[in-house]
Amino acid sequence: MRPDTLLFEIAWEVCNQIGGIFTYVKSRIPTMLDNYGEDYMLIGPYIPEKAKLDFRAIRDPEDSPLADAIQHVRNLGHEVHYGYWLLEEARPKVLLIKPTLHKHQSDEVKTRLWNRHQISSIDADPMVDQVIAFGEIIRIFLTELVSRIDINQDVLAHYHEWMSATSLIELVADKVRLATVFTTHGTMLGRYLAPNERQFYLNLPTYNWAEKAKEYGIEGKVMIERIAAKSAHVFVTSSSLIARECEVFLDRSPDSIIRSGISRKPGFGHEVFEKHLEKRSKIDAFVKALISPSYHVKIDKTLYFFTSGRYEYRNKGFDITLEAIARLNYELTRVKSDVTVVFFIISKQPFTHIRPEVLEAKQRYQDLQKICKRISAKLGPRIYTNVTGEKSLRLPDLNELVDDELKLTWRQAIALFKREGLPPVTTHQLRQEDEITNFLMQAGLNNNENDRVKVIYHPDFIDRATSLFSMDYLEFVRGCHLGVFPSSYEPWGYAPMETVMHGTPVITSDLSGFGQYIRSALDPEDSDEVKVLNRRYRSDEETIHQLTEILRSFVEAFDNQQYIPRSSLSKHLMDSLCWTELQRYYKEIYRLAMIRYQPVADLY
Ligand code: GLC
Repeated sequence: MRPDTLLFEIAWEVCNQIGGIFTYVKSRIPTMLDNYGEDYMLIGPYIPEKAKLDFRAIRDPEDSPLADAIQHVRNLGHEVHYGYWLLEEARPKVLLIKPTLHKHQSDEVKTRLWNRHQISSIDADPMVDQVIAFGEIIRIFLTELVSRIDINQDVLAHYHEWMSATSLIELVADKVRLATVFTTHGTMLGRYLAPNERQFYLNLPTYNWAEKAKEYGIEGKVMIERIAAKSAHVFVTSSSLIARECEVFLDRSPDSIIRSGISRKPGFGHEVFEKHLEKRSKIDAFVKALISPSYHVKIDKTLYFFTSGRYEYRNKGFDITLEAIARLNYELTRVKSDVTVVFFIISKQPFTHIRPEVLEAKQRYQDLQKICKRISAKLGPRIYTNVTGEKSLRLPDLNELVDDELKLTWRQAIALFKREGLPPVTTHQLRQEDEITNFLMQAGLNNNENDRVKVIYHPDFIDRATSLFSMDYLEFVRGCHLGVFPSSYEPWGYAPMETVMHGTPVITSDLSGFGQYIRSALDPEDSDEVKVLNRRYRSDEETIHQLTEILRSFVEAFDNQQYIPRSSLSKHLMDSLCWTELQRYYKEIYRLAMIRYQPVADLY
């Protein structure tokens, strides 16, 4: 690949967090900028609520093919925004495209996709409409750009998942002068079939993709994915689990399987433990604010477990996790354990607002802390005067030192702090009940004083700017004791990987790409930090049993004052999961894409 090759990375999750693809794209940016600098640019959808968080528009580049191509797209009436994605570690250039077309344009594109590729969008849901609009505008933009740049300059477009890929199909069919790479992070049919079909992995080779796509009403999406996979010069995925699906559902084996990485190694040894303590104290404050208005909670006998991920109830193993924590609660209550487990569920579901009682509890807890500070500020000098005065060396009667005003303020604060009723289970007002809230209700997990497992369901991703915990997601992860991710469908699995790499022990499954990688890299039987559950060919009941046992022994070890493990993977293992290390595989596939594409200029 020539050094000045223009490289576009195109994904629906650029500046738009939905799941792991967001983490993938975002974490790889520093390495991409180190390698491709100014020649690297991302393309994503313009979704105003999301863009306002971390996108800053800048003036269009002047007098360049890029500026002309952007202008061309605007002249055709499309809304595109050029600027920076403002991330902590880097600020890459991005082009955000509003994914809408006028009705007549949309009909035209859909007819073309049908005539040329048999992509059916007759009953398309709004998502497919947006995806088609997004693709059409990218097609116009890249066609125009390529026609304006020097014939000797190479262009490569790296697409992720079907939502980004209608322009790939069209650009390759139009023989536009660029090389393409398509990465699938899980197949459409896999995502639908895995949670709904019995023994998905056993039956995988027997499925007829067309029948199943029809049965699940996802023909358009599957066709986009199939043709993108087949058209791309190079086709990649992240684990052998998905490679097998690709053969069955997409009729193409990936050229390469490249595991997903993280940006930088998060630190070692005592540093990990210190960070844990620091972040844990913030979680302590949140938990005290939420629970102690209802009843006392012993923070030094409390453990924080969590699960997180895109809301795919069965795929992410939320079903198994909830069953296991209900059983754990039963067990701990039965043996009258004095340990409390607070179980956080972090996902994303439609909600209207943060529940006022949660915000009030936080506020009142802070007020209480301020009053404590005021009392101690007043008491300090009084005690000092007392002991240095005539009654020196006698322990003063503290009651005498607190005047009525302080006592009153304190009593008022306590009265405001206490609440009738139980601590809230859900932090946000959901638009409607979901499987999680239904399960918790049925299982009676409602944060009763006697329950040993309390649940806090936070149906929004944790973002520093809006965080109820006053920290960002990875800091929260660091403050917890255990991450629980027994997925039944997990092409790779960023959540368990990030968790263990940030020092928090983790439970994952042998049905996740990461779980399989860890199994091959270390012996999980011996490891306190990563447990890999056996889900392959096992019943749910067996998995729930196995998970409950692991959770119970974790609590027991803590109760017996045993050391609470923090994880410290070997340097070699950590390195193998960092983008700086994995980048060489990408260089290889980019080179392969250029060779397969064979730009015209290279032939002479
Ligand atoms: C998808 C997969 C997830 C993977 C991510 C990044 O979100 O569901 O398992 O970690 O893509 O590859």
